[in-house]
Amino acid sequence: MATRTQSRQSNRSTSNRAGSDRGAFSWSENAGPIIAAAIGGAALGFAANFGRKAMMQGMASSAGDWDEMLAADHDAALALFDKMLATDPTQTFKRKMLLMKLTHALDKHAHQEEMVVYPALREANEAGDADHLEVEHGYVKTYLYELGQMATDAPNWLETVREFRDAVRSHAHMEEEEVFPRFKQELSEEQNAKITSMVNRDGFWMS
Ligand SMILES: [Fe+2]
Ligand SMILES: [Fe+2]
Repeated sequence: MATRTQSRQSNRSTSNRAGSDRGAFSWSENAGPIIAAAIGGAALGFAANFGRKAMMQGMASSAGDWDEMLAADHDAALALFDKMLATDPTQTFKRKMLLMKLTHALDKHAHQEEMVVYPALREANEAGDADHLEVEHGYVKTYLYELGQMATDAPNWLETVREFRDAVRSHAHMEEEEVFPRFKQELSEEQNAKITSMVNRDGFWMS
């Protein structure tokens, strides 16, 4: 795909160059090459992004079964919480950056569970657990909302992050220790492989 895009771009640039002797920086007389280059740049940007996603998907695919990938996400999120808890109120920029990272990580993770794992649980008559876990995701979003509204040097910032971490840890514990192992055992090897591939595919578009 990248090759086709690049070759299209290179053909376009060549024909524009061949059709004009004017300088490339002359907006009024000859904006064609600049516009073509901008469009080509966007296409290359898309190709680069697609390549990055494909690489990430490749990495995720080799990370194990669906439950192992999701457990690794839990660990990564808890590690981000620990970094947040190690900050002091003067580190407002660092707190903002960590909150952005955490928001993205939890958003992608929740999407994978809500679009694949929880529906699969409901299909297997385990709607009670799926519904319970999905409601907890709502509270995860509520914590993100609260922290998003709060000044990063607010006196209760750390306390809120600590409560949020506890909530995520207990949610992750229920998934890792109860729901996921039981569900995985109920499924055939093929069914587990199918869920792994669907979780990967969902994560690919959410990256
Ligand atoms: Fe979850
Ligand atoms: Fe999870």
